[in-house]
Amino acid sequence: MEDFEEEQQRRKKPRRGANGFDAAAAAERRKRIDAERRQLPAWAARDQLLSLLQQHRTLVLVGETGSGKTTQIPQFLVNARFGFGSGTGQTSVKPRAANGVDQDPGDAGPSTSGRGQANGAWGGGGGNCIAVTQPRRVAAMTVARRVAEEMGTPLGQKVGYAIRFEDATSPATRIKYMTDGLLLREALVDPALSRYRVVIIDEAHERTVSTDVLLGLLKGVQALRGDDFRLVVMPSGALRGDDFRLVVMSATLDAGRFVDFFPGAVAGLIRGRQYPVQVMYTARPEDNYLDAAVCATLQVHTEEPPGDVLVFLTGQDEIDSAERLIKDKLASLPRSQPATVGEGAEGAGEGADGADPSAPAPAPGGPDSLLVLPIYAALPPEQQMRVFEPAPPGVRKAILATNIAETSITIPGVRYVIDTGYVKSRDYNAKLGLESLAVVPVSQAQARQRSGRAGREGPGKALRLFTEADFGQLEQTTPPEITRCNLASVVLQLKAMGIDDVLGFEFMDPPPRAAILRSLELLFALGALDAAGKLTEQVGQRLSRLPVDPMYGRVLLAASDMGCALEAVAVVAMVATENVFHTPRAKEKEWRSARLKFVAREGDHLTLLNVFRGFSELPKESHKARTQWCSDNFVNIRALRKAEDIHTQLLRFLGPPSPPGLGLPLRSCGDDPTPLRRALAAGLFPHAARLQPDGSYRVLATGRQVFLHPSSVLLDRKPPALVFSELMHTTKTYARDATAVEPRWLPELAPTFFAAKAPGQA
Ligand code: CDP
Ligand code: MG
Repeated sequence: MEDFEEEQQRRKKPRRGANGFDAAAAAERRKRIDAERRQLPAWAARDQLLSLLQQHRTLVLVGETGSGKTTQIPQFLVNARFGFGSGTGQTSVKPRAANGVDQDPGDAGPSTSGRGQANGAWGGGGGNCIAVTQPRRVAAMTVARRVAEEMGTPLGQKVGYAIRFEDATSPATRIKYMTDGLLLREALVDPALSRYRVVIIDEAHERTVSTDVLLGLLKGVQALRGDDFRLVVMPSGALRGDDFRLVVMSATLDAGRFVDFFPGAVAGLIRGRQYPVQVMYTARPEDNYLDAAVCATLQVHTEEPPGDVLVFLTGQDEIDSAERLIKDKLASLPRSQPATVGEGAEGAGEGADGADPSAPAPAPGGPDSLLVLPIYAALPPEQQMRVFEPAPPGVRKAILATNIAETSITIPGVRYVIDTGYVKSRDYNAKLGLESLAVVPVSQAQARQRSGRAGREGPGKALRLFTEADFGQLEQTTPPEITRCNLASVVLQLKAMGIDDVLGFEFMDPPPRAAILRSLELLFALGALDAAGKLTEQVGQRLSRLPVDPMYGRVLLAASDMGCALEAVAVVAMVATENVFHTPRAKEKEWRSARLKFVAREGDHLTLLNVFRGFSELPKESHKARTQWCSDNFVNIRALRKAEDIHTQLLRFLGPPSPPGLGLPLRSCGDDPTPLRRALAAGLFPHAARLQPDGSYRVLATGRQVFLHPSSVLLDRKPPALVFSELMHTTKTYARDATAVEPRWLPELAPTFFAAKAPGQA
């Protein structure tokens, strides 16, 4: 209850002083948000949900996107002292207030449970935190920020988030938004997930690998934590036994399957509001969906009544191009279109905070009244948050989004959806052992979900940039990722949790046997498993602790043996960082020449190392020097800072001899690149390839033909043999991040792997 009291205090007397104005504005904003919250469909269902969850240990909750599942449910649980029954022993099923709006127990009457009791009210065994998993980092961060704001607490205190390499939580954290992958990592050290009273698996329909593994594990956690799951509230208000609860939520869930999977589960439905959406198709297939999306955006802008546009594209590059194209086209629109007297012009007159009230409203459909906003995972958080802000009066937002806007985040104001019909998706060929990130058509379910985003606040329109016949050809639903990905990491983690019989693990949808076998083979080749399939202490145990792909984990272990751990850590940090280089098309000559000074003839990994070294040598405290250096060298300062961060954390994982540290020697090989190349070969050997007479490469492990990625520094002097980080499949299969290796190192460093494969014969 303390939150709510604090909040009320704050509302009553906004702080004055130097920033008195800001405080008043913030209070105003909070008030608006608070009113909005209470209108969300989740609020109407609150009491029922809480009571369902009192009686069942698993709740499968389905509700339209935007109904308040992600932001509200965890707050309901915290405010209802879920852990059930507050210190006063009251039940959490409360009568409806006279005004028909459900009251937050936090503001219902006098507070009898004071600060001191707050923690105790959670009672029973287990921790007192609620974990809410998200498949995407962006969602975890933006939602946590929003909920912290709603609760009026600084982010990282009562509400926090944790994603790989970033932890914004504290001991005070009660609601922890996190990626599903991170919760999986936590399960490694704490298989009972004892820190959590409630685990909420959100966006379960996405069926990411981590979500699927978690679902299997959670079934075990439930068995582990308490067999008496009908709650008994003791007179003291405490609970008997452990009262672990699981909530599985999503917008488009086949609830039945989840209910069947978890014994004793119950399904709940949040009835949302959904307005009709008029779906339109193109008459003919589009040659270029990017151009088509740009044209469609402008068409909506110039021809349709007000309302924001949400455009689904597949990735950052595409979004950047689309943004540029739209801006170019806008620039060529007639500048002073006569302002139609209508919503746009009127709206601009009032309420434009800080805007010059005498300034003319931007003309609807004109170049100044379209605000293009990108949203994708790698975008800096401040920029991500901009999509949630309402556009200035008379201005239309065009949000260019990846799949992230399909279900995980809800952007207010959207009335038009433009769906390219494509998505970037992970794919795995178990037979070839190849994983790729490819642009593929969406499923029918995805297309429907995307269109639905136009009808949240009123009737909307969805433009599908494909034909109706093509829609008919789409898959009904997307198969779970676990059935089409590289399972090495998953299998390693299961093994580390003591689940030896991976083939017998209770997956909701078991991955193909071949894929599991393949990852077992790979882990065996890396030395992580012994011939009996048991995790090895030297390699397997250690690899499972490192938050990187097992192949890169192996690189780090090898590097510490070979005296180049410091370099390898920097390389892995750089590889783990996206979008290091800034490559504006207009300045191609400039960035190419700037890049030259980093180029290492040994390959891309060492080039990345040079960039990292260059950056680290700058004085840390001089923001100006760092910014200048990055701008001169066409590298992305945010990416480099991120890499620095990952670097620090990886050192912590490897270095100090107490957990999480592995206590490995951290030495440097100085300017001799050979040890590092050998270490890379020792981990990436499953991705070793030999040059073919036609200039392509052949992957030794699989015989597959691949091409060196156009961005590789080795393109001009292709070495006879190389190892690479990953394959990317677009029009051809490209090998990315390559380093030249000596062919003879391979059988030496990975004898079992190459004994049967006869590498020389490739
Ligand atoms: O999870 P679900 O899709 O059911 O909804 P939610 O994410 O809890 O969002 C509920 C409402 O909060 C939406 O209507 C959003 O407009 C709003 N919201 C927001 O304005 N800013 C955020 N960062 C997150 C949510
Ligand atoms: Mg949600």
